[in-house]
Amino acid sequence: MIQVEPTGVSFEANEDETIMAAAIRNGYTWPTICGGQGTCKTCVFLTLEGQSNLVEIEPREQQALDSIIDTLPKRGQGWRLACQAKATGTVRLRKIGVRQA
Ligand code: FES
Repeated sequence: MIQVEPTGVSFEANEDETIMAAAIRNGYTWPTICGGQGTCKTCVFLTLEGQSNLVEIEPREQQALDSIIDTLPKRGQGWRLACQAKATGTVRLRKIGVRQA
């Protein structure tokens, strides 16, 4: 289960799909420019709970996060890209702009 604050949107995500793909499959939009290629970083979200339920960051995602880390609050802790991150359990996160398509 993915729970999105501050809107309260929630949806199920399969372990083999990214959080952004799961949102779209469930009828929601997720902010993006690159369409999920891991390059625009527009999809970045802040993990509030369930960080251990997110798969480990792979090099491509880490490289993208490193490029914007100085612009993120909390020194980049808990930030992930929704087009790259997959969840194995419940995750509560903060992302503005996730809404019904
Ligand atoms: S959608 Fe562009 S980096 Fe994730």
